[in-house]
Amino acid sequence: TRPQMEEGAGSALRPAACRAKGGAPGFKVAVLGAAGGIGQSLSLLMKMNPLVSVLHLYDVVNTPGVTADVSHMDTSAVVRGFLGPQQLEAALTGMDLVIIPAGLPRKPGMTRDDLFNKNAGIVRALCEGVAKSCPNAIVNLISNPVNSTVPIAAEVFKRAGTYSPKRLLGVTTLDVARANTFVAEVLGVDPKEVNVPVVGGHAGITILPLLSQVSPPCSFTPDEISYLTTRIQNGGTEVVEAKAGAGSATLSMAFAAAKFADACLRGMRGDAGVVECSYVASEVTELPFFATKVRLGRGGAEEIFPLGPLNDFERAGLEKAKKELSESIQKGVSFMSK
Ligand code: NAD
Ligand code: LMR
Repeated sequence: TRPQMEEGAGSALRPAACRAKGGAPGFKVAVLGAAGGIGQSLSLLMKMNPLVSVLHLYDVVNTPGVTADVSHMDTSAVVRGFLGPQQLEAALTGMDLVIIPAGLPRKPGMTRDDLFNKNAGIVRALCEGVAKSCPNAIVNLISNPVNSTVPIAAEVFKRAGTYSPKRLLGVTTLDVARANTFVAEVLGVDPKEVNVPVVGGHAGITILPLLSQVSPPCSFTPDEISYLTTRIQNGGTEVVEAKAGAGSATLSMAFAAAKFADACLRGMRGDAGVVECSYVASEVTELPFFATKVRLGRGGAEEIFPLGPLNDFERAGLEKAKKELSESIQKGVSFMSK
């Protein structure tokens, strides 16, 4: 299939051999769900990333407009748009990194798990496309419920015989961004100076900020711990309620996804010491998937760090988180065994 929209027509005016070679070598990145609330801002941010040489934008609606718009930014990444399932294969062929924010967002009163019925099938179809057209790509999965969609993606890749646990990364960066923001507010410092590990999963009580491991080291009163834990765990709901039916976090999520994708690309380039939290296949607990700090390298999540010392409050939170997480993982796996 031909791409639905090529880079600007100007590129056809001179034979390729006569054209100056623009753009440094870089990675080929696809955004699936590129016309959505997250997808549009994320496409903009990925077009600004100097590590990206080719940017493929795929959606089932509206990609021509988003592609035309983003492609006029004078940064070096070449942008191509793809519309609808017939063009999924062309969108994915040759990609190094695939970022997936496709699927329905929450409305007030819904849990992330309420999105399962719609989003499970979307993630399955898109991951089948990845297995077929770019089986070695690293996947950043954003679509909710992440606690279940990552296990679904793993099952798709296992069935296709392409599964490499290191290459499948559930995006929990927004939880870390929120934790850094809220902790910095309490401490009265710049959020850039703060790093809060957030482990477990990406829904309610499965989001477990480790406030005893904040960097730089600091201590909190019991009231601060209670306020911060609740606010971080409910960050998504705070945005859903404020948007009052118009969707969930898109701007902060695009920012977080772009940050995480950039970390993945730096790791893929061979940079040392790239560490982010992510929801991955893991042996840190008895559960098959768990979010912790991981080191990102050429092949994805090259190293998974242990939880480190937890206090009593965090240990109690961990037990509750594991129970819910286990059910969400099982739900994802069962969906694929039907
Ligand atoms: P949105 O409705 O604005 O956009 C979703 C886009 O996905 C739409 O453009 C839609 O056309 C597209 N889409 C639907 N089916 C598709 C398919 N089969 N193939 C390709 N594209 C398809 O929603 P949004 O606000 O951008 O949120 C997207 C998802 O991200 C939701 O599931 C939301 O819950 C999730 N999310 C996750 C996090 C996180 O931290 N991991 C944060 C925010 C939102
Ligand atoms: C978030 O944390 O903002 C996302 O998971 C979207 C949501 O539904 O809360």
